[in-house]
Amino acid sequence: MTNEVANDWWRDAVVYQVYPRSFADGNGDGTGDLIGVYDKLEYLSALGVDAIWLSPFYTSPLADGGYDVADYCDVDPRFGTLADFDLLIGRAHELNIRVIVDIVPNHSSSEHPWFREALAGIGRDRYIFRDQPNDWESIFGGPAWTQVPDGQWYLHLFDPSQPDFNWSHPDVHAFFKDVLRFWLQRGVDGFRIDVAHGMIKADGLPDVGALGHRQIELMTTAELPYFDQDGVHEIYREWRPILDEYGAMAVAEAWVSSPARLARYIGRDELHQAFNFDFMVAEFDAKSFRVVIEKSLAEAELVGAPTTWVLSNHDKPRHVTRYGGLARARAATLLMLSLPGSAYLYNGEELGLDEVTDLPPELREDPAFLRTGESRDGCRVPIPWAEGAWTNPWLPMPARWDAITADKQEHDPGSTLNFYRQAIRLRRGFRGDIQWLDVADGVLSFRRGDRRVVLNTSQSPVPIEGTVLMASGPVTDTLPPDTAVWLADR
Ligand code: GLC
Repeated sequence: MTNEVANDWWRDAVVYQVYPRSFADGNGDGTGDLIGVYDKLEYLSALGVDAIWLSPFYTSPLADGGYDVADYCDVDPRFGTLADFDLLIGRAHELNIRVIVDIVPNHSSSEHPWFREALAGIGRDRYIFRDQPNDWESIFGGPAWTQVPDGQWYLHLFDPSQPDFNWSHPDVHAFFKDVLRFWLQRGVDGFRIDVAHGMIKADGLPDVGALGHRQIELMTTAELPYFDQDGVHEIYREWRPILDEYGAMAVAEAWVSSPARLARYIGRDELHQAFNFDFMVAEFDAKSFRVVIEKSLAEAELVGAPTTWVLSNHDKPRHVTRYGGLARARAATLLMLSLPGSAYLYNGEELGLDEVTDLPPELREDPAFLRTGESRDGCRVPIPWAEGAWTNPWLPMPARWDAITADKQEHDPGSTLNFYRQAIRLRRGFRGDIQWLDVADGVLSFRRGDRRVVLNTSQSPVPIEGTVLMASGPVTDTLPPDTAVWLADR
């Protein structure tokens, strides 16, 4: 898309996250790829999404599913070629779907040419090597330092195969500006910035000290000397003019300690949006949702940019399973899609997929699994387009998904797929701010313009009045438990 296109499209967009390895397999080798994504663009257009965000598809040993990048400006052969990417983005734009790509600036793969050189003793200062480690822990478990044969140690906040860059080195700054330009010139509309709060480490790399528990788990908001350091903002101030030149946006994955800290990532001279994960971690309960929504809206006010809403992604168990069933998941989705701001969907949630919790240990690939026993593989199982659509998928699909393949849901008006399509279409009609309505305990309700939203998380049905625009499950003149509804005034 070019500069003429209004560049604040992201403010109320529905963005669909594609995890390329698991989305669709264009060449039948059991691993999803860019041609697979290209083949599904009509499906995504019919779903009604405004943009897709592609998780990494760059050259990578896939030690962390591609969040370990060996070449930032090329496509891993398992995912295709740059020509496939060009085809994909060209067709996406024809269908009016914007394309956001992931950028991973905190660390590279240990297979990146710079790290190979560093191991050979050349340009080691592009990474963080020390003679002695400190007490920092890896987010995937175990120490954040690994020793190399000559005795030095290098820092990796994630897997040992993901060495952290040294952002005090000018080469690293210059390199990432080139990477941004490379993808902007290929037409991308935005970037999702991985671990956007991680690149700068506190001076002198101070010890954290004994805490009596793991220092940090993926996606927590503790204050630590390796996260949310002030210097990180200088990087975004360097990046913003480049983004502006192309009319592109950037959304930060930043886990920080408070809304005020998150606000510092957003603004005219930094980034456009930051993920708000509070909604994703809220309990299925009217009160928790309300607290999170109010907090998020206040935060949005603070940053002057609409907030983002997320229920599932490639790092968290799918929300059907977190909430204990499809009815609740659909209700939470209907709530999410009625809120002001942008909504990020994760591939497969529109089919009502649940978490696959019984993958055999030997098939699990999440690097955290071996060290912590926690694994994100269960939300990364390939998407069931049709029975037999995948030959030898890299993770097996459970038999129960045969009943909910995309082709079976296509023409079923009650399917979750058609529920998402309808909700995304009708969502456009919401106008204005939220006005909370007084309702019984366990029920959440607000008005936006001439519409009302009601979510029932209590144990008993509650009366509703007005014209039902759509509901997450069957409703009459009462709203059953675990159900949400959009109402128009009579
Ligand atoms: C982000 C990604 C996660 C990845 C990590 C390291 O949190 O979402 O999947 O493992 O960064 O790059």
